[in-house]
Amino acid sequence: MEYKNKKLLEILPQEISERDYGCGDPTYYVREGEIVLDLGCGAGKNCYIMAQIVGPSGRVMGVDFNESMLSLARKYQREIAEKLGYWNTEFIKAKIQNLKLDLERLDSFLKENPIKNSEDLIKLESFITYLETNEPLIPDNSIDTVVSNCVLNLVKTEDKGILFQEIYRVLKPHGRAVISDIVSDREVPEYLRIDPDLWAGCISGAMKEDRFIDAFIKAGFVSVRILNYEKNPWKVIEGIVF
Ligand SMILES: C[S@@+](CC[C@H](N)C(=O)[O-])C[C@H]1O[C@@H](n2cnc3c(N)ncnc32)[C@H](O)[C@@H]1O
Repeated sequence: MEYKNKKLLEILPQEISERDYGCGDPTYYVREGEIVLDLGCGAGKNCYIMAQIVGPSGRVMGVDFNESMLSLARKYQREIAEKLGYWNTEFIKAKIQNLKLDLERLDSFLKENPIKNSEDLIKLESFITYLETNEPLIPDNSIDTVVSNCVLNLVKTEDKGILFQEIYRVLKPHGRAVISDIVSDREVPEYLRIDPDLWAGCISGAMKEDRFIDAFIKAGFVSVRILNYEKNPWKVIEGIVF
C-alpha cells in the first residue's frame, strides 16, 4: 500500500511493514494529540504510523479479534516505544461490531469456567452482560478518531448496522471516522457473498457505495466526505466493480 508520509515508515520493523493488508491510507488524516482507535489493526502497521503523528500527548488503540495478529503487533511495542521515546500504543482483543466486550477477559473467564452444561452457559451470558454494561472495553464518547483500513467489509452483513452504531457510540461529540474500504457499484448477489475466498479476500463483503455512505448518516454522523477515490478498480468480478 502507498502511504502518503513515507518518513513515518522508517521506524517500522520489516515484519510489521510486510504485514500490510490495507487498501488506502487513513493514517494521513489523524492529528497530533488525538485518541485514535484502529478497527481491525492486524499486525499494527497503521497504529505504529499513527503513534508518531499523535505523539506523546495522544494514544493509539488497535482492535483485532485475531490472536496471532495481536501478538505480532504487541511483539514490537517496546522496541517502537524506545525508538520514539514514548509509549502510546495499546492492542486489544474485541470484535469491532462489539467494542464493549473485552475478549481477553472473556478468554480468562472461560479458562476458569469451561462450558459443560446449560447452567455454565447462563453464567457466561451473565458475565458478558456484566462486562458490557459495567466495564465496557471502549466507553461511549471516548475516541477522537476511529480509523480502519480494509476491515469493515469483512463484518457479517447482518452485523453491519450495529458496527456503524458502535463507531458512532465510541466517538466523542465532534469525533471523526476515517475509513478506507472496498465498496461496490452494485449490490453483491448472495452466491458471491457466500463464496469464502471472495469474502476473505475483502471483496464480496463490500457494501454498495451509496449504502456505505448512508450507513454513516443512519448511525448519526452529520456529514460524510470522500477524501480519496481510487481511479482503478480493486477488482471487477462478473461486471461488478469493486
Ligand atoms: C484485511 S486485514 C487488514 C489489517 C490492517 N488494517 C492492515 O491495514 O493491514 C483485516 C483484519 O481485520 C481483522 N478482523 C476482521 N474482522 C474483524 C472483526 N469483526 N473484529 C475484529 N477484527 C476483525 C482480521 O483479523 C485482520 O487482522
